[in-house]
Amino acid sequence: MAAAGAGCIMTGAYTDPLPRAAAAVRDPNAAGMTAGEQMSSGDGTRLEVENLVKTYEIGGRRTVEALRGISFTVRDGEFLTLLGPSGCGKSTALRCIAGLESPTSGRITVDGSTDLVNERIYVPAHKRKMGMVFQSYAVWPHMTVRDNVAYPLTGGRRRRISGRERREVEEKVAEVLRVVGLEGFQPRGVNALSGGQQQRVAVGRAIVRDTNLLLLDEPLSNLDAQLRRQMRVEFRRISRAFGLTTVYVTHDQAEALSMSDRIAVMNAGRIEQLASPEEIYERPASRFVGRFLGNLNTLEGEVVEAGDDLSAVRLTAPGLEGTTLRGVSTTGALAVGSEVVVGLRPHLIEVVQDAAARGGAASDMNVLNGKVIDVQYLGVFRELLVEVGAQAQVRATVPSHTPVALGDTVSVQTPHARTLLLR
Ligand SMILES: Nc1ncnc2c1ncn2[C@@H]1O[C@H](COP(=O)(O)OP(=O)(O)OP(=O)(O)O)[C@@H](O)[C@H]1O
Ligand SMILES: [Mg+2]
Repeated sequence: MAAAGAGCIMTGAYTDPLPRAAAAVRDPNAAGMTAGEQMSSGDGTRLEVENLVKTYEIGGRRTVEALRGISFTVRDGEFLTLLGPSGCGKSTALRCIAGLESPTSGRITVDGSTDLVNERIYVPAHKRKMGMVFQSYAVWPHMTVRDNVAYPLTGGRRRRISGRERREVEEKVAEVLRVVGLEGFQPRGVNALSGGQQQRVAVGRAIVRDTNLLLLDEPLSNLDAQLRRQMRVEFRRISRAFGLTTVYVTHDQAEALSMSDRIAVMNAGRIEQLASPEEIYERPASRFVGRFLGNLNTLEGEVVEAGDDLSAVRLTAPGLEGTTLRGVSTTGALAVGSEVVVGLRPHLIEVVQDAAARGGAASDMNVLNGKVIDVQYLGVFRELLVEVGAQAQVRATVPSHTPVALGDTVSVQTPHARTLLLR
């Protein structure tokens, strides 16, 4: 039972009696539903988390502030990802939503009107009816695929359900297995499945009971790189097929960018930015977000000219003092004299040889001159490391055919409009 115990895939699935589960199979809109089952409110908000705080006592007077007041909403059918480094509070947030952890303060509401948690109310996990999948495969190894997926409906009591209920359960299991791409796998022991297939069984079990909020905590981290990539596509397909509202936790930027409708980037118990993947990547709201999303060159500097559109920054890095770059603030108006970092995405950088001979750079370009100190061939691209100051280096990914070699003197160019100024 180790896997099942550790996994506890469906909050509430194991304690729930059969009658309600069977009712869910018959008619998910039937009366008598628990909070999680109800249809969403008119404005399409499925989940609302308001100022959630979780402080753990860790002996004596020592405490850990795992969540320092996070707020967000998840719309009907939306795929929202909580992204952030280890220890930033992602799992704590998910566990509070599931009811596996009780927050220190804050409010959690489903469907616009039903409070799961506030100062007076605490709805226990088994009444929230949310499907949850954890990092470990968390399927019962001694059971078949059918029994794993059917468990939330039957509570494992195979013999005691009537013929009609039994048929409904089998139909529902077949439907779910079809959607997770395991059609006909009912009799297989889960031990005889690959990691990705086992994780799909776990997802099937989490959604079999007409769950309308699916919580996924790093469900792909046990899988190899290729399978992870495949499963990203699968998870999106499954969540669309069932119109599921999903909160997904990961520390993997590529996963978050490729799967999400919106991403909440978390840092030390707070949300630093909540926006679409494009917005998060192209207009990070802080240097933390910019750096966490990866592939950002940063150069320290001071604002010398603040404009509505473009601002100018004088670099302070050794060897670059006096160089001024222009860029766009992603964090609101900047004040002259304030310290910022200039962020350059490697794939937006052009590396030019003999810039002067080519008539110089266009007037809307930032230019840094330097020397190529490393070249890595990556198939489609080459990654260059260019030393642009005594202690400043810039990484650029350029098409493989770009004629640049180690030791070359080059000019590194980025359009003003693509240069980020981050607080
Ligand atoms: N039961 C607990 N008791 C005490 N501290 C805890 C407990 N659970 C989590 N924490 C602490 O709360 C903080 C947030 O933990 P959490 O598990 O939410 O992080 P996470 O973002 O999910 O990290 P990871 O990516 O490593 O899973 C961490 O500092 C962690 O040590
Ligand atoms: Mg975690």
